[in-house]
Amino acid sequence: MSKTIAVIRGDGIGPEIMDATLRVIDELNTGLSYDFVDAGMAAQERCGELLPQATMDSIARHHVALKGPLTTPIGGGFSSLNVELRKRFDLYANVRPAITIPGTKARYEGIDLITVRENTEGAYGSEGQTLSEDGDTAHSQIKVTRRGSERIVRYAFELARRQGRKKVTVVHKANIMKTTSGLFLKVAREVAADFPEIQCNEMIVDNTCMQLVMNPQQFDIIVTTNLFGDIISDLCAGLVGGLGLAPGANIGTQAAIFEAVHGSAPDIAGKGIANPCALLLAACQMLGHLGMEDKAQRVRAAIRDVVARKDRVTPDLGGSGNTASFADALIDSLRAN
Ligand code: NAI
Ligand code: MG
Repeated sequence: MSKTIAVIRGDGIGPEIMDATLRVIDELNTGLSYDFVDAGMAAQERCGELLPQATMDSIARHHVALKGPLTTPIGGGFSSLNVELRKRFDLYANVRPAITIPGTKARYEGIDLITVRENTEGAYGSEGQTLSEDGDTAHSQIKVTRRGSERIVRYAFELARRQGRKKVTVVHKANIMKTTSGLFLKVAREVAADFPEIQCNEMIVDNTCMQLVMNPQQFDIIVTTNLFGDIISDLCAGLVGGLGLAPGANIGTQAAIFEAVHGSAPDIAGKGIANPCALLLAACQMLGHLGMEDKAQRVRAAIRDVVARKDRVTPDLGGSGNTASFADALIDSLRAN
């Protein structure tokens, strides 16, 4: 298969983990070529813009981007470059797998769940946020639409069907937030009826948090609105060992951007010790999206293999290796298996 993707190396540790990730991916004969474009501080330095048109054009042309973390400078005109990318490409589904890898600081074994978070509406809209003149009363509004709810829930069920997963848990607070969460739940029930082979569970968000901590293995796919999904997906990242292992995809109808959940880690940038796994796992999501799930599975197996043996992994996973030795070990494992 011949396909070009946009690649944004990113800021801070971004170039280090991107180079390691692409070295591993290049072992797989994916047929992928890369169109390297800039965003964030790297772009600001090179061409005076945080999100150059050439970068937007590349993502629009290739429909798929692999992206390193971006530093959003304070006062740069954007509240967040990531939010801006989500808006411009209407990336409505934030898909965050949380899978335990034995040998890490994960609190449980056998977690294999995916949070599907609505990414464009809910409580995170900028409209309707007001503060009274005396500064004592604040208002914000929550927007939930049938269209927004339907497309995210449908995405979650289709993902379950594609991956042979058995259960989707719809997380809500419809008992209290009767209109907004109520509409989301109502639409979710309608969509679930189209997927009779997949079990649909409903769970209130506060109980979900407790259940995740007590018995996370019961979950398969979770689908929920923006604010709940933001919180729950970080909780899940914590359950499986933290930021160095948490990937995420932002998916729309016209484009999809795959990235690590963590940021540019300025405290360790340039030291060559950043863990490349989160970005590599995001690249695995990308391979699945491009119809190469078999290759994604090979990389995940290599990660499990190398992490279990520990010696060549990065310090955050308890190893004495660095980014380059981690990538080398992954490549050795791919060649051996
Ligand atoms: P951060 O995620 O960059 O770092 C938090 C802590 O985790 C640091 O101690 C860091 O060293 C460690 N860490 C993160 N990734 C690691 C890795 N791969 N291997 C080993 N250790 C790792 O969060 P922080 O410090 O709040 O943000 C730094 C910058 O990143 C900010 O400018 C922020 O805006 C940006 N950011 C960008 C994101 C993106 O582009 N998706 C997401 C989050 C933050
Ligand atoms: Mg978040």
